Amino acid sequence: MRRKLLFGNWKMNKTRSEAEEFALASKELLELASKHNIDIGVAPTFLSLCKVKKTNPDLLVAAQNCHYAPSGAFTGEISIPMLLDYGIKMVIIGHSERRTYFNETNKTCSMKIDALLANDMIPLYCVGETLEEFEKGITKDVIYDQIKVGLANVKKEDASKLIIAYEPVWSIGTGKNASKEIAEDICRYIRELLREMFGDVSDDIRILYGGSVKPENVKDYLLQEDVDGALIGGASLKVDSFRQLINNVIE
Ligand code: 13P
Repeated sequence: MRRKLLFGNWKMNKTRSEAEEFALASKELLELASKHNIDIGVAPTFLSLCKVKKTNPDLLVAAQNCHYAPSGAFTGEISIPMLLDYGIKMVIIGHSERRTYFNETNKTCSMKIDALLANDMIPLYCVGETLEEFEKGITKDVIYDQIKVGLANVKKEDASKLIIAYEPVWSIGTGKNASKEIAEDICRYIRELLREMFGDVSDDIRILYGGSVKPENVKDYLLQEDVDGALIGGASLKVDSFRQLINNVIE
Protein backbone atom coordinates (compact mmCIF):
# COMPACT_ATOMS: atom_id res chain seq x y z
CA MET A 1 0.00 0.00 0.00
CA ARG A 2 1.58 3.27 -1.11
CA ARG A 3 1.18 6.20 1.30
CA LYS A 4 -0.08 9.41 -0.27
CA LEU A 5 2.43 12.24 -0.53
CA LEU A 6 1.83 15.97 -0.88
CA PHE A 7 5.10 17.72 -1.62
CA GLY A 8 5.68 21.46 -1.98
CA ASN A 9 8.35 22.68 -4.37
CA TRP A 10 9.06 26.23 -3.25
CA LYS A 11 11.36 26.98 -6.21
CA MET A 12 13.12 30.36 -5.76
CA ASN A 13 10.71 31.64 -3.13
CA LYS A 14 10.86 32.51 0.58
CA THR A 15 13.60 34.14 2.59
CA ARG A 16 14.99 32.22 5.54
CA SER A 17 12.60 33.87 7.99
CA GLU A 18 9.61 33.20 5.74
CA ALA A 19 10.68 29.58 5.47
CA GLU A 20 11.01 29.36 9.25
CA GLU A 21 7.53 30.79 9.70
CA PHE A 22 6.10 28.09 7.43
CA ALA A 23 8.13 25.36 9.14
CA LEU A 24 6.76 26.36 12.55
CA ALA A 25 3.19 26.28 11.27
CA SER A 26 3.85 22.99 9.48
CA LYS A 27 3.89 21.11 12.80
CA GLU A 28 0.10 21.36 12.88
CA LEU A 29 -0.12 20.39 9.19
CA LEU A 30 2.04 17.37 9.78
CA GLU A 31 -0.14 16.23 12.66
CA LEU A 32 -3.27 16.56 10.54
CA ALA A 33 -1.72 14.76 7.56
CA SER A 34 -0.20 11.88 9.51
CA LYS A 35 -3.51 11.20 11.26
CA HIS A 36 -4.80 10.36 7.80
CA ASN A 37 -1.71 8.45 6.63
CA ILE A 38 -0.57 11.20 4.29
CA ASP A 39 3.09 12.23 4.09
CA ILE A 40 3.92 15.87 3.52
CA GLY A 41 7.14 17.68 2.70
CA VAL A 42 8.70 20.75 1.14
CA ALA A 43 11.72 21.66 -0.95
CA PRO A 44 13.05 25.06 0.17
CA THR A 45 16.05 26.83 -1.39
CA PHE A 46 19.49 25.67 -0.26
CA LEU A 47 19.74 28.69 2.03
CA SER A 48 16.64 27.72 4.03
CA LEU A 49 17.15 23.95 4.18
CA CYS A 50 18.87 23.98 7.53
CA LYS A 51 16.33 26.34 9.12
CA VAL A 52 13.33 24.29 7.96
CA LYS A 53 14.93 21.00 9.00
CA LYS A 54 15.81 22.32 12.45
CA THR A 55 12.44 23.98 13.01
CA ASN A 56 10.42 20.88 12.12
CA PRO A 57 12.67 17.80 12.05
CA ASP A 58 9.72 15.52 11.27
CA LEU A 59 8.75 17.25 8.04
CA LEU A 60 10.15 15.68 4.86
CA VAL A 61 12.62 18.17 3.45
CA ALA A 62 14.23 17.97 0.02
CA ALA A 63 16.81 20.04 -1.80
CA GLN A 64 15.82 21.25 -5.26
CA ASN A 65 19.05 20.11 -6.91
CA CYS A 66 22.51 18.71 -6.21
CA HIS A 67 25.72 17.97 -8.08
CA TYR A 68 26.72 14.40 -8.83
CA ALA A 69 30.37 14.85 -7.81
CA PRO A 70 31.21 14.71 -4.09
CA SER A 71 33.42 17.82 -4.34
CA GLY A 72 35.48 19.73 -6.88
CA ALA A 73 35.74 22.72 -9.19
CA PHE A 74 32.02 23.31 -9.86
CA THR A 75 31.42 26.95 -9.00
CA GLY A 76 27.96 27.61 -7.62
CA GLU A 77 27.04 23.97 -7.04
CA ILE A 78 26.14 22.02 -3.88
CA SER A 79 27.27 18.43 -3.32
CA ILE A 80 25.57 15.44 -1.74
CA PRO A 81 27.95 15.26 1.27
CA MET A 82 27.08 18.93 1.98
CA LEU A 83 23.38 18.08 2.00
CA LEU A 84 23.91 15.01 4.18
CA ASP A 85 25.79 17.22 6.61
CA TYR A 86 22.53 19.17 7.00
CA GLY A 87 20.51 15.99 7.49
CA ILE A 88 18.93 16.27 4.04
CA LYS A 89 18.05 12.87 2.57
CA MET A 90 15.93 13.80 -0.42
CA VAL A 91 16.59 15.78 -3.62
CA ILE A 92 14.38 16.83 -6.54
CA ILE A 93 16.09 15.83 -9.78
CA GLY A 94 15.35 16.94 -13.33
CA HIS A 95 12.62 19.49 -12.68
CA SER A 96 11.58 20.94 -16.04
CA GLU A 97 12.82 24.39 -15.01
CA ARG A 98 16.27 22.90 -14.50
CA ARG A 99 16.06 21.04 -17.80
CA THR A 100 14.93 24.22 -19.61
CA TYR A 101 17.06 26.94 -17.98
CA PHE A 102 20.08 24.98 -16.80
CA ASN A 103 20.51 22.45 -19.59
CA GLU A 104 19.93 19.36 -17.48
CA THR A 105 19.58 16.23 -19.57
CA ASN A 106 18.36 12.70 -18.92
CA LYS A 107 22.03 11.72 -18.73
CA THR A 108 22.97 14.29 -16.06
CA CYS A 109 19.81 13.34 -14.15
CA SER A 110 20.96 9.73 -14.28
CA MET A 111 24.37 10.66 -12.83
CA LYS A 112 22.72 12.58 -9.99
CA ILE A 113 20.25 9.78 -9.26
CA ASP A 114 23.08 7.24 -9.13
CA ALA A 115 25.06 9.43 -6.74
CA LEU A 116 22.03 9.93 -4.49
CA LEU A 117 21.23 6.22 -4.31
CA ALA A 118 24.88 5.40 -3.60
CA ASN A 119 24.46 7.66 -0.55
CA ASP A 120 21.19 6.03 0.49
CA MET A 121 19.22 9.16 -0.38
CA ILE A 122 15.85 9.58 -2.09
CA PRO A 123 15.68 11.05 -5.59
CA LEU A 124 12.38 12.70 -6.50
CA TYR A 125 12.75 12.44 -10.25
CA CYS A 126 10.65 14.74 -12.46
CA VAL A 127 9.58 13.86 -15.97
CA GLY A 128 7.13 15.47 -18.39
CA GLU A 129 6.62 16.67 -21.93
CA THR A 130 6.60 20.21 -23.36
CA LEU A 131 3.51 21.72 -25.00
CA GLU A 132 5.01 21.09 -28.43
CA GLU A 133 5.61 17.43 -27.61
CA PHE A 134 2.10 17.12 -26.16
CA GLU A 135 0.58 18.62 -29.32
CA LYS A 136 2.62 16.29 -31.52
CA GLY A 137 1.23 13.35 -29.55
CA ILE A 138 4.68 12.10 -28.49
CA THR A 139 4.24 12.37 -24.70
CA LYS A 140 4.89 8.66 -24.09
CA ASP A 141 8.04 8.67 -26.27
CA VAL A 142 9.42 11.56 -24.24
CA ILE A 143 8.53 9.88 -20.94
CA TYR A 144 10.05 6.61 -22.17
CA ASP A 145 13.44 8.27 -22.73
CA GLN A 146 13.31 10.23 -19.48
CA ILE A 147 12.58 7.07 -17.48
CA LYS A 148 14.81 4.64 -19.36
CA VAL A 149 17.85 6.96 -19.52
CA GLY A 150 17.38 8.72 -16.17
CA LEU A 151 17.00 5.43 -14.28
CA ALA A 152 19.31 3.35 -16.50
CA ASN A 153 21.76 2.40 -13.74
CA VAL A 154 19.35 2.03 -10.83
CA LYS A 155 19.64 -1.39 -9.22
CA LYS A 156 16.52 -3.38 -8.45
CA GLU A 157 17.29 -3.32 -4.74
CA ASP A 158 17.43 0.51 -4.76
CA ALA A 159 14.34 1.10 -6.86
CA SER A 160 11.91 1.29 -3.94
CA LYS A 161 13.67 4.47 -2.77
CA LEU A 162 12.64 6.32 -5.92
CA ILE A 163 9.80 8.82 -6.14
CA ILE A 164 8.71 9.91 -9.62
CA ALA A 165 6.78 13.08 -10.47
CA TYR A 166 4.95 13.44 -13.77
CA GLU A 167 4.79 17.15 -14.50
CA PRO A 168 3.64 18.12 -17.99
CA VAL A 169 5.63 21.30 -18.71
CA TRP A 170 2.58 23.00 -20.23
CA SER A 171 0.71 22.69 -16.95
CA ILE A 172 3.37 24.15 -14.66
CA GLY A 173 2.44 27.58 -13.32
CA THR A 174 -0.06 28.07 -16.14
CA GLY A 175 -3.34 27.18 -14.45
CA LYS A 176 -3.86 24.68 -17.31
CA ASN A 177 -3.71 21.50 -15.26
CA ALA A 178 -3.76 18.18 -17.07
CA SER A 179 -7.06 16.31 -16.77
CA LYS A 180 -7.21 13.53 -14.20
CA GLU A 181 -7.51 11.07 -17.11
CA ILE A 182 -4.25 12.29 -18.69
CA ALA A 183 -2.52 12.21 -15.30
CA GLU A 184 -3.66 8.63 -14.67
CA ASP A 185 -2.81 7.48 -18.21
CA ILE A 186 0.77 8.77 -17.97
CA CYS A 187 1.35 7.74 -14.35
CA ARG A 188 0.12 4.23 -15.23
CA TYR A 189 2.46 4.20 -18.24
CA ILE A 190 5.36 5.23 -15.97
CA ARG A 191 4.49 2.36 -13.62
CA GLU A 192 4.50 -0.07 -16.55
CA LEU A 193 7.99 1.13 -17.52
CA LEU A 194 9.11 0.78 -13.90
CA ARG A 195 7.70 -2.76 -13.87
CA GLU A 196 9.69 -3.64 -16.99
CA MET A 197 12.84 -2.34 -15.33
CA PHE A 198 12.39 -3.38 -11.69
CA GLY A 199 9.62 -5.96 -11.54
CA ASP A 200 7.14 -5.95 -8.65
CA VAL A 201 9.05 -3.21 -6.79
CA SER A 202 7.20 -0.88 -9.16
CA ASP A 203 4.12 -1.39 -6.98
CA ASP A 204 5.92 0.32 -4.10
CA ILE A 205 7.24 3.34 -6.03
CA ARG A 206 5.25 6.51 -5.50
CA ILE A 207 4.30 8.44 -8.61
CA LEU A 208 3.09 12.02 -8.19
CA TYR A 209 1.30 14.39 -10.53
CA GLY A 210 2.44 18.02 -10.68
CA GLY A 211 1.28 21.07 -12.60
CA SER A 212 -1.24 23.67 -11.40
CA VAL A 213 -2.38 21.47 -8.51
CA LYS A 214 -4.68 23.50 -6.25
CA PRO A 215 -6.89 22.69 -3.27
CA GLU A 216 -9.87 22.52 -5.68
CA ASN A 217 -8.40 19.83 -7.95
CA VAL A 218 -6.00 17.87 -5.73
CA LYS A 219 -8.50 15.19 -4.74
CA ASP A 220 -9.36 14.38 -8.37
CA TYR A 221 -5.74 13.39 -8.95
CA LEU A 222 -5.27 11.47 -5.73
CA LEU A 223 -8.32 9.34 -6.46
CA GLN A 224 -6.60 7.92 -9.54
CA GLU A 225 -5.17 4.45 -9.06
CA ASP A 226 -1.62 5.23 -10.16
CA VAL A 227 -1.37 8.78 -8.81
CA ASP A 228 0.08 8.59 -5.31
CA GLY A 229 0.29 12.27 -4.55
CA ALA A 230 1.13 15.68 -5.89
CA LEU A 231 4.14 17.92 -6.42
CA ILE A 232 2.85 21.41 -5.84
CA GLY A 233 4.40 24.77 -6.66
CA GLY A 234 2.35 27.94 -6.11
CA ALA A 235 -0.32 26.37 -3.88
CA SER A 236 2.30 25.03 -1.46
CA LEU A 237 3.72 28.41 -0.50
CA LYS A 238 1.07 29.53 1.97
CA VAL A 239 0.28 27.53 5.11
CA ASP A 240 -3.47 28.06 4.63
CA SER A 241 -3.35 26.77 1.09
CA PHE A 242 -1.26 23.73 2.10
CA ARG A 243 -3.75 23.02 4.92
CA GLN A 244 -6.57 23.25 2.39
CA LEU A 245 -4.78 20.78 0.11
CA ILE A 246 -4.60 18.28 2.98
CA ASN A 247 -8.18 18.93 4.10
CA ASN A 248 -9.54 18.46 0.60
CA VAL A 249 -7.71 15.15 0.23
CA ILE A 250 -8.97 13.72 3.50
CA GLU A 251 -12.57 14.94 3.41
P1 13P B 1 2.69 24.83 -9.98
O1 13P B 1 1.95 24.01 -8.97
O2 13P B 1 2.92 26.25 -9.53
O3 13P B 1 2.09 24.73 -11.34
O4 13P B 1 4.17 24.20 -10.10
C1 13P B 1 4.30 22.84 -10.27
C2 13P B 1 5.72 22.46 -10.13
O5 13P B 1 6.55 22.81 -10.94
C3 13P B 1 6.10 21.68 -8.94
O6 13P B 1 7.38 21.18 -9.08
